[in-house]
Amino acid sequence: MDFLPEAIEAYVAQHTEKEPALLAELNHETWEKVLIPRMLSGHIQGRILSMFSHMINPKNILEIGTYTGYSALCFAEGLQAGGKIHTIDINEELEPMVSRYIDKAGLKDTIMNHVGDAMEIIPKLTETFDLVFIDADKTNYSNYFDLVIDKVRPGGYIIADNVLWSGKVVDEAENNDPDTAALKAYCTKIHQDDRVQDVLFPVRDGLMVARKK
Ligand SMILES: C[S@@+](CC[C@H](N)C(=O)[O-])C[C@H]1O[C@@H](n2cnc3c(N)ncnc32)[C@H](O)[C@@H]1O
Repeated sequence: MDFLPEAIEAYVAQHTEKEPALLAELNHETWEKVLIPRMLSGHIQGRILSMFSHMINPKNILEIGTYTGYSALCFAEGLQAGGKIHTIDINEELEPMVSRYIDKAGLKDTIMNHVGDAMEIIPKLTETFDLVFIDADKTNYSNYFDLVIDKVRPGGYIIADNVLWSGKVVDEAENNDPDTAALKAYCTKIHQDDRVQDVLFPVRDGLMVARKK
């Protein structure tokens, strides 16, 4: 669902930094060759993620749900010198494409591309994170939050994508859909957790931003 009228979307795009060339190439190739390309963050959300990263200026980022690597490359723009991103995806078929773009971006030593189930990989990571991006299987969002909250430094951020789920979260008829139910449960959980300050940004499909107090 498009939450904004088309003319407003176009106006926003016109008044937002242009998509960097490598990201435009990755965006194009994803739409040409990969299943479910609308999963990719895209121009405007990508610029927002880059802006968040510049504002936070993180040393360590964890991304859950790499897909073709678009959001990881956006987050890399705001990393501190010597900073690192761990990104995880369960789909091994995506790995060659992700690695190719990480190489093209010159970020081989910056982005650690893990292939496997995030529920198994996250407990093995020993870093403290300044920023975590949750963008994988919706039914595990709350589990991911529980796995990462103690690995985030005070003042660090946990951002979760797709929390508006095309508007289904306010559609009573969607109550039995497991993804919708999981996303609603996630937002309720974050909203009730005193360890974090929360703001739901109505950007694209909804970004729930939680700052660890
Ligand atoms: C919405 S896409 C990520 C989009 C990407 N962050 C971006 O903005 O371009 C979700 C990804 O999560 C991955 N995924 C689903 N379940 C997973 C799991 N249990 N562990 C790791 N990755 C998973 C999928 O394979 C898919 O590539």
